[in-house]
Amino acid sequence: MKVLICGKGGSGKSTVSVLIAKNLKSRGYKVLLVDADESNSGLHCLAGCSSPVILIDSLGGKKGAKDKMIQAFSKESAGMMPEQKWRIRDIPDEYLASAHGISLLTVGKVHHLGEGCACMMGAVSKTFLSNLIVGKDEFVIADTEAGVEHFGRNVAQGCDMILDVVDPAFESFMLAEKIQDMCRDAKIPVFFILNKVEEQVREAMFRHIPREKVIAEIPKDRDIFMDSLEGRELGKELPEIESACEFIESLKRKQ
Ligand SMILES: Nc1ncnc2c1ncn2[C@@H]1O[C@H](COP(=O)(O)OP(=O)(O)O)[C@@H](O)[C@H]1O
Ligand SMILES: [Mg+2]
Repeated sequence: MKVLICGKGGSGKSTVSVLIAKNLKSRGYKVLLVDADESNSGLHCLAGCSSPVILIDSLGGKKGAKDKMIQAFSKESAGMMPEQKWRIRDIPDEYLASAHGISLLTVGKVHHLGEGCACMMGAVSKTFLSNLIVGKDEFVIADTEAGVEHFGRNVAQGCDMILDVVDPAFESFMLAEKIQDMCRDAKIPVFFILNKVEEQVREAMFRHIPREKVIAEIPKDRDIFMDSLEGRELGKELPEIESACEFIESLKRKQ
């Protein structure tokens, strides 16, 4: 199953991506964490991974990156699959970093002033995800850039489920509406994770977000905040993430 994590900047997408990836790994799944955020570069720290390999850079830069990826990842060893499809095991190790059994693929980052737009990174993310065939014992968790740019670029189209991380902010609620509309049009199931929840904001959040679509309410947590502040691996295990992953697992079984 391929899960796309989206939401407003700072809502907790990267935090939730790592916590979910770790929990699914502990349930015995093979997990690929995809960093599809072109701007922020701290995901590997949260995952406890020291050296991020940047796919587009490893392929020689943006020019021709998509075609080179297709050549590198499409393997005849994949058996009966049509050409230009791949599985996680077909991705050469040189394009992956790893931490505690979780593999991390970082699509691309904006490095320099005036280097041009990041459309190619969106195109590579879209091709990578939509051509990736995921096995029964595998999960792909894709952490994205803030906002809805990846919907515009159709990155979401390659995924089985969207998780919108909503923090207590009006912008987050407005974005949630937009994401729901886009997912309805794209026919992709969408669920919400309320994050940084405190008692005094909980009811306001539920006034804006449909209760039946909320799969977790993650409290505002000092340990999570401090780990991220210090660039440390997230060490906390939360019961709310445990139950969200149980739900995700149940959806996978129905697939
Ligand atoms: N449940 C939480 N409790 C406290 N702080 C949180 C929580 N979730 C995220 N944060 C903090 O919010 C900030 C943004 O989180 P991050 O995951 O980087 O967001 P995004 O990827 O959406 O931009 C970080 O400082 C992070 O530690
Ligand atoms: Mg992030």
